[in-house]
Amino acid sequence: IELYLGALGGVLPAHPLTHAELEAGALAVLPPELRTYVAGGAGDEATQRANVTAFERWALVPRMLNARTERDLSVELFGKHLASPLMMAPVGVVGLCTLDQHGDVHAAEVSAATGVPLIGSTLMSDPLEDVVAATGDTPAWFQLYTPKSRELAASLVSRAERAGYDALVVTLDTWVPGWRPRDLASGNFPQLRGKALANYTSDPVFAEMTGPDPDPATVVFTWVGQFGNPLTWDDLPWLRSLTDLPIVLKGICHPDDARRALDGGVDGIYCSNHGGRQANGGGAALDWLPGVVDAVAAHGGDAPVVFDSGVRSGADVVKALALGATAVAVGRPYVYGLALGGVPGAVHVLRALQAETDLIMAVDGYPNRADLTRDALVRTMP
Ligand code: FNR
Repeated sequence: IELYLGALGGVLPAHPLTHAELEAGALAVLPPELRTYVAGGAGDEATQRANVTAFERWALVPRMLNARTERDLSVELFGKHLASPLMMAPVGVVGLCTLDQHGDVHAAEVSAATGVPLIGSTLMSDPLEDVVAATGDTPAWFQLYTPKSRELAASLVSRAERAGYDALVVTLDTWVPGWRPRDLASGNFPQLRGKALANYTSDPVFAEMTGPDPDPATVVFTWVGQFGNPLTWDDLPWLRSLTDLPIVLKGICHPDDARRALDGGVDGIYCSNHGGRQANGGGAALDWLPGVVDAVAAHGGDAPVVFDSGVRSGADVVKALALGATAVAVGRPYVYGLALGGVPGAVHVLRALQAETDLIMAVDGYPNRADLTRDALVRTMP
């Protein structure tokens, strides 16, 4: 109502309200190398497109005379109460997407302002300590790209723990780079240009590898040598030994992998195909969500399932929740918000997602998170 009244009074929303306009606006202001890096995906981007269109194959069935003036979207995640189930997915170059190149800190400020937790990437433009310091009272998680050196991995994780992150997300699908033609064609890999490596250059173990005051080429060369630890299930006990924080494995799409991860002592599952950036030729991440949710439920316990890849609207959030996600993360949407309108731009994007989610739950008669079960959905296309 506030937005409608504001518009009547001539105060129009300062930023786009649809993803298509948001993306077009952001891509118009981002420099060309970031444009392809953020918007692009693997191969001919069929998987990336499928992530988005998969939501259209599910229809929410409206239920009437179930009106509530207050809706409850809240969720408990590792003992923390969150007013909404939204999260900000880890995005490695978000630091570069604001004019001052401090986009990671600004993403943290967005988190503080909205209560939407940020999952900070290993690939930051500011050290992880500075980023979590800006998240205020909102919980924050740290995402690890596991380097080859176990000592360096341990150092990054213990820094994250000491700095106050609430959970560790280990991303499993990026131990080799994705085949991204748009970036390959332009030689575009920000880290190879020495960008977004602040967590390495601020790390004492990394400093031992480079020696004191390394030149930029030495930093990049050392980072390349560390990139991509080919982890196997045998490494799970070692990962577990690194921290007392809850561990969430990101990139899990198969029910057997979810089961095995929980057997191995991890605390949460993150179903994602990296926004279609890593491997083309797969299905939409949404199609893997029900199987993963069922495996986690069958395992017993209360491990949360985080979902991302292709979420573009409140309707998408509602559908992912109905398919069993505990929390729903967005990547590109908040990055576009930051690029286009700085902190207020990304705050606007997250609030708009929350508002649309809330209104759909109101109109369609599913006022509480608990009402959103698979019975709320009908599959409309095979
Ligand atoms: C990512 N993603 C990602 N994931 C991760 O675990 N660590 C990272 O550093 C990054 N970096 C990154 C950069 C960019 C530019 C994008 C767009 C994405 C993947 C991210 O966490 C998430 O899985 C996807 O962005 C979700 O898909 P949508 O919401 O972008 O469709």
